[in-house]
Amino acid sequence: MLFDTHVHLNADQFSEDLEQVIERAQNEGVETMVVVGFDKPTINKAMELVEHYDFLYAAIGWHPVDAIDMTDEDLQWIEELSSHQKVVAIGETGLDYHWDKSPKEIQQEVFRKQIRLAKKVRLPIIIHNREATQDIVDILKEEDAKEVGGIMHCFSGSPETAHECLEMNFLISLGGPVTFKNAKKPKEVAEEVPLEKLLIETDCPYLAPHPYRGKRNEPSYVKLVAEQIAELKGVSFEEVAETTTRNAKKLFGIN
Ligand code: NI
Repeated sequence: MLFDTHVHLNADQFSEDLEQVIERAQNEGVETMVVVGFDKPTINKAMELVEHYDFLYAAIGWHPVDAIDMTDEDLQWIEELSSHQKVVAIGETGLDYHWDKSPKEIQQEVFRKQIRLAKKVRLPIIIHNREATQDIVDILKEEDAKEVGGIMHCFSGSPETAHECLEMNFLISLGGPVTFKNAKKPKEVAEEVPLEKLLIETDCPYLAPHPYRGKRNEPSYVKLVAEQIAELKGVSFEEVAETTTRNAKKLFGIN
């Protein structure tokens, strides 16, 4: 059984054929998924989905690219929703220095506010990082995020950075890029990070694994991520599936 820890089934890309996408995932052994909302419409849609499907859970937060749009009322709203029993994490939040819609200082402030919220409501944090590793590590330390821990989502850093994150009580989640032929760092991370500290995800509809690279991603493809990790680690697919599912359930407090 597989656990896809990061899906955007709430995205418009799935509005036409969501039922079939979910069915294909279940046929490939995907047992549980966390639907990630990152702004008002996607949080609303995530909450709608988790009410409807018992195997879906929600993570709710504000994306760093849109940090400039987040109001105090939005944060308050996220806090209120976080007491819902199917909300299992705060995020995705973090820093994204690739896009300049939101200035760095505002991204950092909004990130800090969400870490404080996660600590207040006792939920793990899902981190989005793009070209901002050092600032993320510094802020997680300064805000003592270790208390709740969480996930480095679609981790693309070095094994050294991965170990720094493990020390802060964060798990490493690998997605489609680990299957790319030229993806050196994710493969090294898959080899070096203990299986007990790894999670798998698709981040669908983005970042489809090989051989679907460039196409719409979907949760059934998380199997390809697990197979790649098994090959790199020299363990069975079943062991990767079982261990990453156990890791995810423990972190999210499911069962
Ligand atoms: Ni995402």
